[in-house]
Amino acid sequence: MPAKVALITGAARGIGFGIATCLARQGTRIVIADQDGASAKNAAARLAKAADVPTLGLACDITVRTQVAALVRQTMKRFGQIDILVNNAGICPFVDIMEMSEAVFKKTIDVNLHGAFHCTQLVAQEMIKRGRGGRIIFITSLAVNVSSAAQGDYAASKAGLHMLMKSFAIALGPKGITCNAVAPGMILTDMTRFHWEKPEPAAFVKQRVPVGRIGTPEDIGNAVTLLCSDAAAYINGVGLIVDGGHQAVCA
Ligand SMILES: NC(=O)c1ccc[n+]([C@@H]2O[C@H](COP(=O)([O-])OP(=O)(O)OC[C@H]3O[C@@H](n4cnc5c(N)ncnc54)[C@H](O)[C@@H]3O)[C@@H](O)[C@H]2O)c1
Repeated sequence: MPAKVALITGAARGIGFGIATCLARQGTRIVIADQDGASAKNAAARLAKAADVPTLGLACDITVRTQVAALVRQTMKRFGQIDILVNNAGICPFVDIMEMSEAVFKKTIDVNLHGAFHCTQLVAQEMIKRGRGGRIIFITSLAVNVSSAAQGDYAASKAGLHMLMKSFAIALGPKGITCNAVAPGMILTDMTRFHWEKPEPAAFVKQRVPVGRIGTPEDIGNAVTLLCSDAAAYINGVGLIVDGGHQAVCA
């Protein structure tokens, strides 16, 4: 049987690249899609060398449906199948909700929610045509349950993404395609580095997260790999929190 193919959005860096790395270690062939096409190609080349698997790096702004359609076409042309989709691309502008412009609010919803809608619909159509099932993972956030004044747009988009995942899980389950979410806690990436590398927040993480450290992109990649494994065949429509125990702590 040919090795599986995973398409991961926003995978030129950060959590997406961590997911790509973990799946590649299982021998999965990887498509790195990112709005930054040069970085996507570069990341794909690095991964092919490090993990010794075929990879493809493609430019795609997931908010533009025609670009997502082209991404799916190019992936099918190169690999002939898509077994796994990871809806990872996302943004978090960190603007106080009372100061936020309509444009910023709309953009966050467009990337975090509409982007995953386009990718899931168009990839699922290919999975259904092939008839071999598939796995679709949505990268949400602890912001599905909690928020802050600076994350009103983000939390609304991620809570919506969680419910979008459930709706696709119901629609696609009969086709053998499972849909689940992974909700990362505090993970050190370019999105969050500006905050977690300051002394006070860094000390907060050590004291507040039961495992005593901030998460890494590969912590999330390992959880995604678990949900994409054969052992997870009956897991559908759920969100897995991966936060070192942070949300288990009361106050
Ligand atoms: N870092 C954390 O602590 C954390 C916590 C919870 C959830 N998340 C979620 O994990 C995902 C990845 O976060 P990260 O920290 O790696 O972010 P990041 O900013 O480091 O990387 C995001 C990637 O997505 C790409 N991207 C942005 N908009 C895009 C678009 N329209 N089309 C295609 N690609 C686009 C960017 O170019 C970038 O390469 C996001 O959905 C984020 O909300 C992150």
